[in-house]
Amino acid sequence: MLRPLLCITFALGGAAAQGAAPRTAPPAPSFRFLKEPPKGLPKMPAPVGYEPTAAMFELGRKLFHDGILSGDGTVSCATCHPASTGFAHPAVNPPGVHGNVAERHAPSLFNRGYAPLQRWDGGAPSLEAFVLQPIGDPNEMGSSVGEMLARLKRDGDYRSAFRDAFAKPVDARSVQRALATFVRGIVTGDAPYDRFLRGEVAAMTAQERHGQWIFESKGGCWKCHTPPLFTDEGFHNTGVGVVNGHPEPGRAAVTKDPKDRGKWKTPTLRSVRLTAPYMHDGSLKTLKAVVDFYARGGNRNPHLDRKMKPLDLSEKDRAALVAFLKSL
Ligand code: HEC
Ligand code: HEC
Repeated sequence: MLRPLLCITFALGGAAAQGAAPRTAPPAPSFRFLKEPPKGLPKMPAPVGYEPTAAMFELGRKLFHDGILSGDGTVSCATCHPASTGFAHPAVNPPGVHGNVAERHAPSLFNRGYAPLQRWDGGAPSLEAFVLQPIGDPNEMGSSVGEMLARLKRDGDYRSAFRDAFAKPVDARSVQRALATFVRGIVTGDAPYDRFLRGEVAAMTAQERHGQWIFESKGGCWKCHTPPLFTDEGFHNTGVGVVNGHPEPGRAAVTKDPKDRGKWKTPTLRSVRLTAPYMHDGSLKTLKAVVDFYARGGNRNPHLDRKMKPLDLSEKDRAALVAFLKSL
């Protein structure tokens, strides 16, 4: 069942396909089996212990969109990570089985193959380690790895797809590798920003360039949202989710180090225009609200990152910063 390499490009939010796209067309995010990263992005680190193939990617794509992974058959990965909203979910807490909801905002899955750690708190050391977690989570897919494997083994199409992709019967490791290979193919790059860097001076508007300048100068955004992926894949306390000066555990729940209290993973800003609401708790509804949050220096708490300071940003600066973020 080995199909030729896939290269599906999604045209989202009115984005035209390549070529005749108007200058303001946002980059068209794609998911495909990757041989080369999109322009402007570095080479993606290879997974440990196996070589991803197009057959694994195809199987992962089918699994990602199939309720068979969930206890009652109603919830797939795509339920909470729909392509139309940048693989993030538009609800603050996305819906799982039996009317339950996930504890946190479902983040965008763009360019997650670059991340050494997964989850907002970094609690999963690889994509392979992560992808079985939602299946066992009672609020998300409400099943167990054993039950999920039994359902897949009863399905003739899956039995042969697993044999084609992995040359062995259905097992948990193959499910991990297929799903991780699919997620690695969810990439976005070649934004106006990248084209500008390549010398296409007209790729960015004057307002977007002003926003970029703020991002790189007095905004200090680049220190954590480091180009070209617009994340350092690190963990920082910006004060999101702080109540009366008390942050949630965040990264400290994993490391048990009190200094990590209230730290969360820096999300990528690529295709961020698609993935509202923002932050691990979905507490900020718009990019304008995010910029206003940073302008006031985040939320005060004893662990606030030292890079967080009130910023002197005019309304014009703020609008430009939003325009720049939307162009990524
Ligand atoms: C009920 C909603 C829901 C379902 C179903 C779901 N997810 Fe998620 N996903 C989330 C939430 C919420 C998070 C953030 C979890 C956290 O950090 O605590 C997340 C995080 C992730 C991440 C980590 C991204 C990052 O930047 O750290 C990946 C990868 C991911 N999901 C892939 C999947 C896959 C693959 C499936 C199917 C097996 C799936 N998800 C099913 C809601 C869901
Ligand atoms: C100290 C590091 C740091 C700095 C500086 C910083 N950020 Fe962030 N940013 C983060 C972290 C960490 C999060 C996630 C916080 C959370 O979810 O609790 C985040 C979240 C965001 C988000 C939400 C993305 C999403 O998918 O939810 C946007 C947009 C954003 N930052 C833009 C900016 C801009 C614009 C600036 C400059 C004005 C900036 N950031 C400065 C660390 C930083």
